[in-house]
Amino acid sequence: MTKRASLPIAVFDSGMGGISVLRELYKLMPYEDYLFFGDSANAPYGGRPVEQVRSLTMDRVAQLLDMGAKAVVVACNTATSAAIVSLREKYPTIPMIGLEPAIKPAAVQNPGGRVLILATELTVNQPKCRLLMERYERTATLIPLSAPGLMEFVERDLLHTDELDAFLRRLLAPYIENPVDAVVLGCTHYPFLRDDIAKVLGGKVKFYDGGAGTARETHYLLEQDAILNDYTHKGQIHFMNSDPSGKSLELSKRLFQL
Ligand code: DGL
Repeated sequence: MTKRASLPIAVFDSGMGGISVLRELYKLMPYEDYLFFGDSANAPYGGRPVEQVRSLTMDRVAQLLDMGAKAVVVACNTATSAAIVSLREKYPTIPMIGLEPAIKPAAVQNPGGRVLILATELTVNQPKCRLLMERYERTATLIPLSAPGLMEFVERDLLHTDELDAFLRRLLAPYIENPVDAVVLGCTHYPFLRDDIAKVLGGKVKFYDGGAGTARETHYLLEQDAILNDYTHKGQIHFMNSDPSGKSLELSKRLFQL
């Protein structure tokens, strides 16, 4: 195995949402080492101007590459929309994997149905998501919905609370009345809210997120570059977070274990 293959994979998010992607990566590639960075001190990214999100993302990725990452997973739909093109231009030899809302499988598997796309404001307004929607708008009825304030329930450790239930009932009222067939969890924080959303929308709704697909794509790119690790023991995960209180770090580890 080459020295490069034994280096860690960096996983970056605006906060703890990226843990939902890290879990899929670890499930598929448990023999890799990971550097996880959550930028909780600057979260949420979803309501910030695109240039700001790009600059925050570029800075963190530079830091992770300085720490010796062999590949970077931008485990954030918002940061991907804002920065993946610039990152690929700047680091053409490093595998850079981004996240995009899982609109394709949701539309294709629910033809003629109603698909709710839950994502941040920045994600739903960027060309990446718009283009994806244009491609599948004839397959299913696509309903984009940005949800300011929603990721904070994950960051603040408020899963399965009455407060979250009330927030979701307000946000999703039109879809309780007029049900949807599927929900795209287009922000990496939202898979942690899946049970709470299902409780509000009813048991039949199907969920789609990009985590498992991103893990498969990462595996494929590492294999192509012959930089998959060949450890026979489980890899290490080094958790980092910009929140100086230590609370986000503790919660990140707990979310990973869920
Ligand atoms: N986790 C991020 C995403 O996938 C965004 C959350 C935020 O607004 O910072 O879009």
